[in-house]
Amino acid sequence: MARLHFTLVALCLLVWAATPGAAPDGNIMTAANRAAARQPRKCNEQLNAARHSGSARAPHGAQYQPGTAAPAFRIQTLDGDFTYPPPAGERISVVLHAFTNKSAFLECLWTDRSSLAALVQQLPEDSHVVFASLDDSGCSDVQWMRAQIQHAAKLRGKDVLGRMHFSSVPVFGLGNWIPSVLYSWTCDGVNCGLSQVVFTSKEWGTPIVAKRLDAKYDWLMGRWTPVSHPLVDGADGCSVAPAVAGAVAWVSEGNCSFFAKVKNMASSKALGVLVYAGLGDPIQLMDCAGAECYTQLSIPASMVHLELAVADALRGQKPVNVSFQRTPSPNFFFGIDQDGKLAEMGWFLYPTFKFLVWQTQWFDYAQQLHGQLQKPSQTINVFNHTLMQGDRGAVATVGLPEDLFSFDVFQLDTSLSCPDPWDESCAPWDHTVQLFVCCDRQGPLCGLELGRWITAFRRGIGRWLTDASPLLALLDGGVCTFTMKTVPWAKPWITSLNLRFSKSNQSISGKQSEALQPFLLQPLFNGGTFDKNYNKGYKPINFTVPASTRKVEIYAVITGHGSDDQGCCEFCVTSHHFVVNDKFNHSMVFDEAGTAFGCADHVTEGVVPNEHGTWLYGRGGWCDGQQVTPWRTDITSQLDMTGSNTVLYFGLYNGRDPNPTSNPGYIIMYSYVVFFK
Ligand SMILES: *[C@@H]1O[C@H](CO)[C@@H](O)[C@H](O)[C@H]1NC(C)=O
Ligand SMILES: *[C@@H]1O[C@H](CO)[C@@H](O)[C@H](O)[C@H]1NC(C)=O
Ligand SMILES: *[C@@H]1O[C@H](CO)[C@@H](O)[C@H](O)[C@H]1NC(C)=O
Ligand SMILES: *[C@@H]1O[C@H](CO)[C@@H](O)[C@H](O)[C@H]1NC(C)=O
Ligand SMILES: *[C@@H]1O[C@H](CO)[C@@H](O)[C@H](O)[C@H]1NC(C)=O
Ligand SMILES: *[C@@H]1O[C@H](CO)[C@@H](O)[C@H](O)[C@H]1NC(C)=O
Ligand SMILES: *[C@@H]1O[C@H](CO)[C@@H](O)[C@H](O)[C@H]1NC(C)=O
Repeated sequence: MARLHFTLVALCLLVWAATPGAAPDGNIMTAANRAAARQPRKCNEQLNAARHSGSARAPHGAQYQPGTAAPAFRIQTLDGDFTYPPPAGERISVVLHAFTNKSAFLECLWTDRSSLAALVQQLPEDSHVVFASLDDSGCSDVQWMRAQIQHAAKLRGKDVLGRMHFSSVPVFGLGNWIPSVLYSWTCDGVNCGLSQVVFTSKEWGTPIVAKRLDAKYDWLMGRWTPVSHPLVDGADGCSVAPAVAGAVAWVSEGNCSFFAKVKNMASSKALGVLVYAGLGDPIQLMDCAGAECYTQLSIPASMVHLELAVADALRGQKPVNVSFQRTPSPNFFFGIDQDGKLAEMGWFLYPTFKFLVWQTQWFDYAQQLHGQLQKPSQTINVFNHTLMQGDRGAVATVGLPEDLFSFDVFQLDTSLSCPDPWDESCAPWDHTVQLFVCCDRQGPLCGLELGRWITAFRRGIGRWLTDASPLLALLDGGVCTFTMKTVPWAKPWITSLNLRFSKSNQSISGKQSEALQPFLLQPLFNGGTFDKNYNKGYKPINFTVPASTRKVEIYAVITGHGSDDQGCCEFCVTSHHFVVNDKFNHSMVFDEAGTAFGCADHVTEGVVPNEHGTWLYGRGGWCDGQQVTPWRTDITSQLDMTGSNTVLYFGLYNGRDPNPTSNPGYIIMYSYVVFFK
């Protein structure tokens, strides 16, 4: 394993060294270097002309917002011109990425092997990426970027290269509308801005400013403050170093894990750690691995390049101070979806192209959803950009189609957006959103749940189509009141909801025998506090099957929340069981809860990507920024169609009754038995 790791790092270095002008003596002909040398260099000689026209047109920023139609453009690239839009009929998404070598985040994004592999292996077929540099060295920067991608693509085949376009002029020289988008779109987080360290010493006149990459977001939660601290050499950080107490420790890469270094420096009472890369090595993302991740460390740490002046001063026992700052920069990314609309790319939680891939997967998802919404249906609009906030939520009373029971497909088309087109205006946190319906105030079905979603943390693009066909049976009146709410303290969301009624293929093709309609529904169990008494509250529920019933289903929407000593119920694996007639066990297991990519893997099914926070992890039956998909199971064959039947529910943790020692979590559940005829 250690050997393999070494090989991979070495590959990375060869490519890094292939940067034109970066190889110290210019004579080392590595494979990647030779490949780059064979490429015709087409740096734009008219840079100055372009610069003038570019800057003259710059200040139109506010004109372009997420959702604005992207104007046509043409970009000179290393491999010919890229023109947008593509020839008629071709629907593509485009991501524009602006690189700067002043960002350690981007340096890592572009040198980390798994990051590059994700880009060449997982970029959807209809997505293109345009790369440009923000710096004067733009042309040689993109040559280096192309070499990095060509190197990564060797492992995969070349087809993806045709969808990667490298601008031969820097961003400021594009001479079109793109610079103003990059320079005017706000960005909060790591997709823009330069994280820096500032070294000061009497040894040199002006401060030395260098790029830094903070340790992975959810590994070390300690954050730098702007205060200046002494910097003290902590050697390789692989053992305690009392000298670093009260100072920031300056520690070399290698010999032990990042975790060991930070842990040793924390035990030595350092205020924080700067790990410097070996000479010529790229800055990497500092993370824990395996069991290391269970020990909490609370000092901040970052990775930087080796600054020789700093190392010399420290070796000579000269005092050096370090402070931390963030310098604003243009945005590094924006997208254009298949509809030609400008789009934000969300938050890149750590430096990997996976986040770019996830956003393009979401463009595809949205495109497919758009197609599904074109299918014929009778559509009733309930909310149209309606404010949802506070105890009241969003409320609307609407009339339903008269021939409700001629339909057998019922879908909820829901979107959650924000007060303005920018993600920044979106509410933080992942909160549960529930939709309740009441058609007959006196009836037993008034106020039951029709749908559930989880808000996307600070992203306003979510839209989902949920098949809730069995719940046609909840709509038992001509006029119904719909209430959609989240927790009353959540910041506002803007909701849109259409009810879509249609006929399945079976009923269209006239095979009425197969197109069964839900006509009656009986509520079953609700959730509760997930502690040792959770299952004691449940007793079997009896039901009889009404005459003319042809099919019976259990329909349940179950989600786990809260955080006990085992992470239950958001991040622990719980199982949920419905036992029919004491014999037939129907189980649902939330086995993706707590997994690293349990939700990121479902972007293609509508999980909103690149939210703030840890949206990537799997959760107890749900994901941030997604519908909760109803669980359905057919129990017809297990029933006595003329006599009495029972159903019992119970929920388990690790196959046993839950037994948290502190802070029990909870289950939100609505479940029904539904009769079809
Ligand atoms: C980034 O800058 C460093 C020096 O600061 C240089 O060695 C390296 O080659 C540059 N990389 C690119 C891709 O321009
Ligand atoms: C270094 O930081 C210390 C306190 O953290 C401060 O007292 C001192 O003046 C600083 N020295 C320089 C050269 O900035
Ligand atoms: C790793 O440890 C060896 C032996 O203690 C030491 O000589 C070397 O300098 C260390 N490497 C780094 C990068 O600090
Ligand atoms: C929603 O409102 C907008 C105007 O605010 C209107 O153009 C649109 O037709 C409405 N949509 C529906 C489905 O009623
Ligand atoms: C309905 O029929 C169309 C066309 O025959 C087919 O493409 C589609 O998959 C069918 N849908 C379902 C739900 O069976
Ligand atoms: C459910 O039915 C069983 C017999 O099948 C009966 O013993 C029991 O009392 C019934 N329970 C309720 C709550 O009606
Ligand atoms: C139902 O299945 C679960 C999971 O396999 C199991 O733990 C439970 O004991 C089963 N219950 C019954 C009544 O069979």
